[in-house]
Amino acid sequence: MYAVAGATGRVGSATARHLLADGAEVRVLVRDRERVEEWIRQGAEARVVDLGDRAAMRDAITGCDGLFILLPFDFTVDDLDAYADAVTTSVAGAVADSGIPHVVMLSAGGADLPDGTGPITGMHRMEQALRATGTVLTALRSGHFQEKVGDLIEAARAGVYPVFAASADVPVPMVATRDLGATAARALLSPDATSTSIDVRGPAYSEREVAGVLGTALERELEVVVLPEDAWAPALIDAGFRPHVAESIAELYRAYERGLLAPRADRAVRVDTPIEDTITGLTAA
Ligand SMILES: NC(=O)c1ccc[n+]([C@@H]2O[C@H](COP(=O)([O-])OP(=O)(O)OC[C@H]3O[C@@H](n4cnc5c(N)ncnc54)[C@H](OP(=O)(O)O)[C@@H]3O)[C@@H](O)[C@H]2O)c1
Repeated sequence: MYAVAGATGRVGSATARHLLADGAEVRVLVRDRERVEEWIRQGAEARVVDLGDRAAMRDAITGCDGLFILLPFDFTVDDLDAYADAVTTSVAGAVADSGIPHVVMLSAGGADLPDGTGPITGMHRMEQALRATGTVLTALRSGHFQEKVGDLIEAARAGVYPVFAASADVPVPMVATRDLGATAARALLSPDATSTSIDVRGPAYSEREVAGVLGTALERELEVVVLPEDAWAPALIDAGFRPHVAESIAELYRAYERGLLAPRADRAVRVDTPIEDTITGLTAA
C-alpha cells in the first residue's frame, strides 16, 4: 500500500494514477472530503488528512510501504518559513511515529542549499528532517515546472509574455508534472536501499521559445518583455502577491541567475514530455 499526499494536485494525482495503473494499492491523502469519492471510483482508498495534523498523518500512513509527500506552496500565509517548518515538523513527526520505511519527496533543484533560494529553503529543511527520521528518503529534485506557463496565460492573452530572468534566450530545463508523477511512482515501486536525491530533468527551452509555443496556441503574436531584476518583486506585487512572498519568489529567480538551482543530486533522470503538449493542455483547460 502506498500513501499519496497532494492527490488533488498535479504531481500527486499523476503519482496516484501511475501507481493504480501498475496495479498497486493506493491510499490518497486529501484534505477535502468532497474529493474522496472520485478516488474511490478509481480504485484507491482515501483518507481526509491535513498535512499539518501529525497524529492524523501518522494514522493515515502507518503500515504503508511508501509515502509520496510534497511541501505545498501556500502564498497566503504571513510567514513562508514558519508555514514550511510547521508542515515539515508535522510530516517528519508522522513519518518517525509511523516507522514507514520509504518516503518519496517532491523537492527542487537547489534544495541542497540552506539559503538564498527563496521558497526552496523550506524544501531543504524538509529533506533534512525526513532523512533524520531514519526512513529511506528519495528526494526528487525537480527543475522548473512546465505548467508555470499557466500563470502567464492572462498576460499572454493581452499580448505580453513577461520574463523574470536576465535573458529570454537561455535554454532552461522544464519538467511536465505528469512526468514527475511517473517518476515518483517508479521510485515508490522500486525503492532505493538508502536515501538518495535525484535530479529530474526535462527538455530545455528558452523563454522566447516558450512564448512562441504559447503564442501559437493562443493564435496571437506575443511581445516578450524581459523585466530588469529590480522590477521582479514590484511586478509580482502588482500581480497580487503579498510583499514578503514577492521578495521570496524574486530571490528564487535570482538563484536561477546565479546557478544555485543547477543539478547537483546523487543521480539524474531525464523525462521528455514536450512543452507543446503541456501548453495545449493548459490553453484547452
Ligand atoms: N513550481 C515549480 O516550478 C516547482 C519546482 C520544483 C518543485 N516544486 C514543488 O511542487 C509543489 C507543487 O506541486 P503540484 O503542482 O503538484 O501542487 P498543486 O497542484 O498546487 O497541489 C498541491 C496539493 O497539495 C495539497 N495541500 C496543500 N496544502 C495541504 C495541506 N495543508 N494538507 C493536505 N494537503 C494539502 C492540495 O490540496 P487541495 O486540493 O485541497 O488544495 C493539493 O492536492 C510545490 O509546492 C513545490 O514544493 C515546484
